Amino acid sequence: MTDWQQHEQQAMAAIAAAPTTDALEEVRVSYLGRKSEVALALREVRDRETGQLLNGVRGRLDGALTARERVLAEEELDRRLREEIVDVTLPGTEQPLGHLHPITQVRRAVEDAFLGLGYEVRDDREVETVAYNFDKLAFLPTHSARSPRDTFFFDDDHVLRTETSPSQIHIMEEKEPPIYMVSIGRVYRRDAITATRYPIFHQFEGLAVDRGLTLADLQGTLLHVMRALYGPDRRVRFRTHYFPFTEPSIEPDVSCGICGGSGCRTCKFSGWIEMGGAGMVDPRVFENVGLDPEEWSGFAFGCGLERTTQLRHDIPDIRALWEGDLRVLRQF
Ligand code: PHE
Repeated sequence: MTDWQQHEQQAMAAIAAAPTTDALEEVRVSYLGRKSEVALALREVRDRETGQLLNGVRGRLDGALTARERVLAEEELDRRLREEIVDVTLPGTEQPLGHLHPITQVRRAVEDAFLGLGYEVRDDREVETVAYNFDKLAFLPTHSARSPRDTFFFDDDHVLRTETSPSQIHIMEEKEPPIYMVSIGRVYRRDAITATRYPIFHQFEGLAVDRGLTLADLQGTLLHVMRALYGPDRRVRFRTHYFPFTEPSIEPDVSCGICGGSGCRTCKFSGWIEMGGAGMVDPRVFENVGLDPEEWSGFAFGCGLERTTQLRHDIPDIRALWEGDLRVLRQF
């Protein structure tokens, strides 16, 4: 075997053994590059025979390199396609967004229901004066809610509001009737924490002041709101009650959504569920804000948002709405 045959064989082996296109390129440079033995020898050629010989070697090596290059490139493309495959049908990485607290959801549902009736939505202060929380609402001096055992007092004149009813006084002092407003927010009472009570809770308070309003208007309004909150099949009934700032005063009930009114555990087998307090605005309250009770009439109502939320979602324990346990809250 001549030197050149040996050289060619060695080059062919290197080409066949090159594992990647990059490695093959190095093989090409060392066997056919400008400083390769073949290239250098070709420069020195003096006779036809040697020229043909060397050109033959160069041609075969070049052909082998090109063929090997094609194989390796194809292999590499295949590997990349396999390794970098993107399965567009796979589920993406979850980005948890969270959602509104159930109380906030219900608060918005209440706002929507009243905005649909043309009511304005109000947000009043939680630290209230005794004048607005009690006096102007015609609470008698002896009323038990005035006791520091029922109500959080800062001093003799300031309390954490015990209800949203002070909003009635604020808006009637601020603007002339007709008034159609709903006030939503937190209220505070000195209750021990149990399954049904929590010292902080939310109420929504409605007030309508206009000429010639009657209990029928109150009933129609509550019916609209209860159906907006609980569904179109609900009925509303009134039971007589007492509140210092309404006369007559009533407690509205909504028909039980679990049994449809026939009686079950949720409604204590009465078919009805208590919804809060309501009534026609007491003439003394109108006088306290400088409105003539002969000219103006009005109705008011107040309901707890926690209660509404519990009924909407069948949540037996009020504490679940305050503990912030995501295992609970994620369900709503
Ligand atoms: N403020 C009363 C309560 O918290 C509810 C109520 C509101 C009653 C408006 C009558 C009118 O119990």
